[in-house]
Amino acid sequence: MIYFDNSATTKPYAAALETYTKVASHYFANPSSLHKFGQKVRELHEEARKQIATLMSARTEEIIFTSGGTESNNLAIKGIAHAYQNRGKHLITTQVEHPSVKNVMQELEQNGFSVTYLPVTETGQIRLEDLKKALRKDTILVSIMHVNNEVGAVQPIQEVADLLAETEMPLFHVDNVQGFAKMELDLVKIDAMSISGHKLHGLRGTGVLYKKNKLNLQPEMLGGGQELGLRSGTENTAGIVALAKAMRLSLEDFQKKVSNLTNLRDFLLAEISKLDGVTIHTDAASSAPQIICFSVKKQRGEVLVHALEEKEVFVSTTSACSSRAKLESSTLHAMKVPENQATGAIRLSLSYENTSYEAEQFIGILKDILQKINEVVK
Ligand SMILES: Cc1ncc(COP(=O)(O)O)c(C=O)c1O
Repeated sequence: MIYFDNSATTKPYAAALETYTKVASHYFANPSSLHKFGQKVRELHEEARKQIATLMSARTEEIIFTSGGTESNNLAIKGIAHAYQNRGKHLITTQVEHPSVKNVMQELEQNGFSVTYLPVTETGQIRLEDLKKALRKDTILVSIMHVNNEVGAVQPIQEVADLLAETEMPLFHVDNVQGFAKMELDLVKIDAMSISGHKLHGLRGTGVLYKKNKLNLQPEMLGGGQELGLRSGTENTAGIVALAKAMRLSLEDFQKKVSNLTNLRDFLLAEISKLDGVTIHTDAASSAPQIICFSVKKQRGEVLVHALEEKEVFVSTTSACSSRAKLESSTLHAMKVPENQATGAIRLSLSYENTSYEAEQFIGILKDILQKINEVVK
């Protein structure tokens, strides 16, 4: 099997699974229980928070555990919008966000907020001038993803952070679900950042919202007041301890891993671009090292996905969410890729565990499939 669908989800590290099983079977008490068994679990939970804070150069109280990227994005955006609405009701985001940002923004629009959706260039980046023009006195939040999940485009997060840091408002949230452990990011001028466990070889149902100490958030989930009152519900301690392990492993030898990923991506890009009728939608110079998006002339993306699946090769159309909903990729649309190409796009997303042997095999399989398709078309 060749698994090139790591932006949809990754295979959990064996060590993370082992940690999960160990904690879930031996330390199953509720960390809020007063007895010493519960307190031992609380210690593990807080130790995981400390480790993650250290890995991210953050403070322990800035780490909030959630169920994943979607929840972190919801908590950050709605939490900020509701906590700061007395300062203004204008929000800025981009046209290429994941639905867990886009749909939240749309809901806020229905509830009296106004939202500016920044356009992107042909390679998928926002322009700082557009952001400057969009900023208003009543702008309370700018939310921009770091790495786009459909084409891999990297946004100029540091430049945006520098610009926004000049004034107290607006606050800055970054969806870093596809960027964490793939691209470096300095948190100093970022107010909130979302991370998802299952995208970095941790387990599903785990995630982090980093939130700056000074930031107020209105909680979305009410109940027993866990996670500093921001996210009620009995904690998933086993998943969280496994997440700390997965994050540490993902960041270990970071430069080497990223350089291997980049080599693999560049090899695939070079080989794919030699094939007849292929258009590449990922600009290597301004993209993350793990994602390649391309389309084949007159082919629908799902036809290619299924043809590859027959050879035990697993990829997606542009994103797992849009592929189910059979929607044209909103990122490619915003990049002004013609519709007949956008509906034919597929995404390869790599992990540190993929090898050059798999990349070579993939190219051979893709060539065979395209040759057969072309013969049928003739
Ligand atoms: C950029 C981005 N943000 C958020 C999410 C949602 O993360 P999760 O699946 O952990 O809810 C995804 C998932 O694909 C994503 O790619």
